[in-house]
This record gives sequence, C-alpha cells and structure tokens, in this order.
Amino acid sequence: MSRIYVTKDLGDVVLAPLGDDFDMWSGDGPVPREVLEAQMRDCVGLLSMLTDRIDEDLLDLAPNLEVVSQMAVGVDNIDVAACRRRGITLGHTPDVLTETVADTAFALLAAIARRLVEASEYVKAGRWGPWEPYTLAGADVHGAVLGIVGMGRIGRAVARRASGFDMEVIYSSRSDAKTPNRRMTLPELLGVADFVVLTVPLNADTRRLIGSQELSLMKSSAFLVNVSRGEVIATDDLVRALEAGEIAGAALDVTDPEPLPRDHPLLALENCIVVPHIASASTSTRMAMGRLAVDNLIAGLAGDALPAEYQEER
Ligand code: DGY
Repeated sequence: MSRIYVTKDLGDVVLAPLGDDFDMWSGDGPVPREVLEAQMRDCVGLLSMLTDRIDEDLLDLAPNLEVVSQMAVGVDNIDVAACRRRGITLGHTPDVLTETVADTAFALLAAIARRLVEASEYVKAGRWGPWEPYTLAGADVHGAVLGIVGMGRIGRAVARRASGFDMEVIYSSRSDAKTPNRRMTLPELLGVADFVVLTVPLNADTRRLIGSQELSLMKSSAFLVNVSRGEVIATDDLVRALEAGEIAGAALDVTDPEPLPRDHPLLALENCIVVPHIASASTSTRMAMGRLAVDNLIAGLAGDALPAEYQEER
C-alpha cells in the first residue's frame, strides 16, 4: 500500500508533483470513513478535505502519520491538539483563496441587498409584468455601514472592496487589525452595521457566536452574510429572526448542517440566499489550493518548512 493518501481526485495537473507514489479516493463524494480508516495504517502523509473528520480515533489508526495537509484554510474538521501531541505537521491553504472568498462575500452582500436571486426567480417564474416603481426594491450597498466580524486576511480583503462602494467599514476582532477602520465590540458593531459579514475561523470561541441575543441587537434593516463556517451561527435562531423580520435578510455560503436538507426552513425564506460552500470556488483558486496542499505535503514529508504550515491564532 502506498504511504501517501489523497482523499479527493484533484486532477493530474494538481497531483503531478506527487508522482505515482500515492493512493487516492476517486469515488463520488467524500471518502467513506471506513476507507479512510483502512488507509491510515501505513500512511505517512494525508492530503485531506474539509469533509474528512481527522479526529483522535482516526489518528490512533495512523502510527506512521507525519503530515496532514488540508486543502482549505479552515481546519475545524481536524483535531489540531491531537495532531500536535503526536508531532504531526499540519498544513493548510491560506492566502491563495483570500481574494476569491472576498469576491464571493461581496457578491452575496450585493445579491441579498438588491434581491438579485429573488428577482431572477421572479423573471423565470413568468411574473415579470409592466415596470412598477417599487417592485423588488431593495437596499443600497453604497454608503452603507459594513461590519466585519473577524478582521483577518479575508476580512481585510472584504474591507478593500467596500471602499469602492463608499461604505463605512467597522470591525470587531480579537486583536487590533491595524487598519484605518474603527474597531468595536461585537455588540456595538451589531447595533450600527447595515451589513454584518462573518469571516472568523470556527473554534471554541466562535461556535454559535451569532445567536438570538446577537441577532436581536442588529437593526431590522440589516443583513447578515456568512462566508466562514455554518456553526458560527445558531441556525434555528437565524431562522426565527428571518421569519420574524428581526433582520432584513441573510446570505449564506456556509450552513449548519451542510449540506442543508431540501426541506430546511432557511430554503423557504425569500429573504435568505443559500449557496453551497463555494466562496473559494473559482477554478484557478481551487487549483491553487490543491497545488499548495500538495506542496505542503511534499515539504513536510521531506522535513522542510511548509509553504503554509497551520499556526493556531494567538
Ligand atoms: C476553506 O478553505 O476553509 C473554505 O471553506 C473552502 O475554501
């Protein structure tokens, strides 16, 4: 059995640097747990996806594992502490996706404000009648207050886009982002922002960061955009807030659970846009993420510094 395992066929171009010396899951969907477990016995290098649960039980089956290289910036599917205890090097794929994710965050923001998905469905349903002054009227993006929660690489890239729309940018973050934008506490931000964009990583501090209390602080005219992880929002609380008109709308790239079942209440709401975790999904960015994951794996197995080793936030 080969000693490198790749949990998704990323294509020849991306995987070429690995040569022939690897095994890979090339079936539909994420690698089944039992297949992954069976691969762990001899595995020294694992190239993982965010859909793979790399937990203590899996690591117990992998006595030779030296490197886990994840093709994502987020590593919340990985028990990082358990990797550290075992001396396993962990790589991820920051930077290469920053601008693409920020593009999507901004697209979602504009789409929910200007009701673009609803308007497109309206036309496709044959409802387009004579022009009316207030049909599908939405909210302005330009001149609005944008509250960014988590001013890391992606948050800063969203802020750069906002300046082109003459928005006022405020943010809340664990540390000073050293940007000219005003930093405030999360409750303060929620009280004044017209758009709240979540870009925080998922961890113990950010799980369910936005629940009924936080949603009640938002303006009833405000919109929530999530490009981080679904679990940052308490989903049932969001459904209630959207149904009650407590906030104006939400645009979600990520949800809890994922995938969202077809009969989920979020999908019945006109003031909610849901897309299937595609924020980084431009072809070139996804290939760049794959290449970086391969490079991390190769460097780690050679005992070299990884181009992008995962470091816990301090
Ligand atoms: C990530 O990288 O963590 C995204 O969610 C997928 O691009």
